[in-house]
Parts: sequence; C-alpha cells; structure tokens
Amino acid sequence: MNNFQYYTPTKVVFGKDTEKETGALIKEQRCSKVLVHYGTGSVKKSGLLDRVYEALDKEGVTYVSLGGAVPNPRLSLVYEGIELCRKEGVDFILAVGGGSAIDSAKAIALGTKYEGDVWDLYLKKDSAADALPLGVILTIAATGSEMSDSTVITNEEGWLKRGLHSSLVRPGFAVMNPELTYTLPEYQTMSGCTDILMHTMERYFSHEMDTDLVDGMAESLLKSVMRAARVLLKEPKNYDARAEVLWAGSLSHNGLTGCGRTGDWACHQLEHELGGMFDVAHGAGLAAVWGSWARYVYKEDVARFAKFAVNVMGVAYDYGDPEKTVLMGIEAMEEFFRTIHMPVSIHELGVELTDEQIGELAYKCTYMGQRMIGGIKKLGKDDIARIYEMAR
Ligand code: NZQ
Ligand code: ZN
Repeated sequence: MNNFQYYTPTKVVFGKDTEKETGALIKEQRCSKVLVHYGTGSVKKSGLLDRVYEALDKEGVTYVSLGGAVPNPRLSLVYEGIELCRKEGVDFILAVGGGSAIDSAKAIALGTKYEGDVWDLYLKKDSAADALPLGVILTIAATGSEMSDSTVITNEEGWLKRGLHSSLVRPGFAVMNPELTYTLPEYQTMSGCTDILMHTMERYFSHEMDTDLVDGMAESLLKSVMRAARVLLKEPKNYDARAEVLWAGSLSHNGLTGCGRTGDWACHQLEHELGGMFDVAHGAGLAAVWGSWARYVYKEDVARFAKFAVNVMGVAYDYGDPEKTVLMGIEAMEEFFRTIHMPVSIHELGVELTDEQIGELAYKCTYMGQRMIGGIKKLGKDDIARIYEMAR
C-alpha cells in the first residue's frame, strides 16, 4: 500500500427534510451573508429554492442569489459570481443543485479571494491560497463534488474544460436528502450512476495489488450502485435506492477508495475533452469511452482486470485463458451500461467524430503536448487518438 493522506472535512447531513437545517448549518460556520448559487431552473420548479430561503430567513441569514450554472459550467458565470460576492460582501457560498452548480460555486469561492484571473488557477499557472467557505444542498447523485476537493469549469474561449484540485474547496457541509433527487429525468439519474461507478473504477484500476481493504469497499460500492440503478429504472421514487446511490456518490469521490494507490483517471480526461467540445452529459461521456479504453489498456494488468471481472461482474475465472475472463468482464460492464440506457460509443452519445476532431481532442487532452494521461498504461497523443477512434 502506498503512503497516503486522507482528509474529509465535510459534515454530511443526510436524510428526509434535512434542507430545513441549512440556516443553522451556515450559522455554525459563523457566516452571515450568503450567495445562493444554483442551476438552470430545476430547484425553482421543485420548490426547493423557496424552502431554502425560508430556512435561511428563519435563522436571520441574509443572502443574494445567482442562478444559471449549466451542465459543464461556464467561466463567464464564475466571473459574474465573483463580482457579485465582492460587491455584496458575501462571506459564504451555498450551492443548491448538482455538480455543475457546486463546481461553479467552488470557482466563485476561489476567485473572490484571488487577485488575479481565476482561470489561471485552472491552467495551473498559480495555486490558490484562500477561498470563501461553502456548503452544498445536493439534488443529484453523481459527481461527488459535495465532498471532493475538485472543481471542473469550461472556458467558452476555446471550449476548454479544465479541473482543479484544492483542499480549500471541500464543502464545509453537504445536505443530502434522497427525496430531492426524485424529480431527476432517467437520463440524468443513470448518467449520475455511471459517474459514481467511474469514480470508483478510476481508483480501482491501479497496479497496486496489496490494497485488499479498499478493493473490497470499491467492489461492494460498485455492486450496490449497479443494483440500485436497476431498481431506479423501474421505480424512480424508491427511497432506499435513491439513498444508496446518493451516499455512494459521496464515498466514491471523497478519496476513500483511492487510499494507498495511484488510480488511473484516463477516462475522465478523455471525457472532459468531449464535454468541453460537445457539451455532453459527463457520466454518459464516460460510458461512451470506457469499453474502448479498457480494451486498449487491459494487457498492462490482466490480473487487475480479471479481479474486476470476477469480483464485480460475476464472471467465472477461466484458468486456461485469463484474458478471456477480462474481455468477458468488459463486455458485462458494457452490457450493464446498455441496460441503464447509457451509450457505449461516441456515436451513441450523439456525436459523429471526424478524423480532424479526433486529432484536436487528442491534442487538447495532452494539454497541447504537455502531458500524458492514465495510470494502468501511460497514454500519449497517439494512444488517446486511437481510443477515440475505437470509441467512435
Ligand atoms: O440546471 P438544473 O435546472 O438544476 O438541471 C440539472 C441539469 O440539467 C438537472 N438536475 C439536477 N438535479 C435535478 C435536476 N433535474 C431535476 N431534478 C433534480 N433534482 O440535471 C442536469 C445535470 O446537472 P449537473 O449539475 O450538470 O450534473 P452533475 O452533477 O452530473 O455535474 C456534472 C458536472 O460536474 C463535473 C462534470 O465534469 C460536469 O461538468 N464533475 C465534477 C467533479 C468534482 N467537482 O468533483 C467530478 C466529476 O468527475 C465531474 O468531472
Ligand atoms: Zn466524474
């Protein structure tokens, strides 16, 4: 097991009606002027936003609001939020919504305290020294941003989608009421479930073999999410299944299943370029590339892929032909994605890639020739282009 640091400062407030506690939670953080930041309308339509305002009023917490965070949240809105926070003297940011509202809130929290251009932090030209504190009311089980140290923003200039990691943006609290996720359309529910699976798999597919405890946790998490996703296909208002994926979403991306190992993360990098260029749903984009990535890299670690096939996908181990076991595991995972109506190719994602676009995506994915991606196999521009070709 590798050395590791594990830090999860987020207070989780989980269960029915927990959004009513928001005002008290903010007061606990010793803050009094809040920016309420949300998406493109679902929280208004469901009445959640009004309930949140009520909870703030009840505790005498004052606030200003800014909606409009779209999926693949944009830098221009972040700039708007920073300006608003400075003008209004905001000392706390409350994100109400999904990963996009949360990531946008994190960027605003960083940018308000940063003198330069916040985008420079995403380009790694500088690192953040301070941020406004933030809290979250989560409405979709997906990214794990409610406990993670990362934020992903898309710059409309050049359509670059870039992530940033900093302990400063781990939310102080996360309110998670499974009932708030009942209104999600099926596609978003399943895209979210896929993202949760992928956050666990990105960590699981790693060369370290002496990580028995976290392997077991990861395998159990993957099986629970697959089971719950199948239930949610038929019963979107099944409380227990909603609760299962909501909690799994946080545990899949708060670092727990990555303790002691390096992880892979190539599929996320492949998806981020697709998301930046074609504005696809993040989880669906991951499903579209995963099988091609797996087939391209599995020979680097047949034992790890076979463990996944047997322990997660229930494939019988073929002692005479371990690679056959691996390929059956990959096929079983793709079959699961089909079952939950997720794409297993970029074409099924609704994007017809040209050769030129593949070249551009691959180049951007290497940060214009500055890096390789992946852990199981280090991938350069040609490898990345090949995976996009296989996935197209
Ligand atoms: O904008 P609204 O109206 O709220 O609608 C959203 C949006 O259209 C809707 N929605 C959310 N909750 C709902 C609901 N509709 C009805 N009822 C509800 N309860 O669902 C759509 C998707 O929402 P979004 O916030 O975009 O989804 P998600 O949570 O999947 O976030 C995706 C973004 O997070 C990034 C992704 O790349 C993408 O930009 N990620 C962030 C990570 C992090 N910070 O740790 C890690 C991830 O790997 C990921 O990269
Ligand atoms: Zn993700």
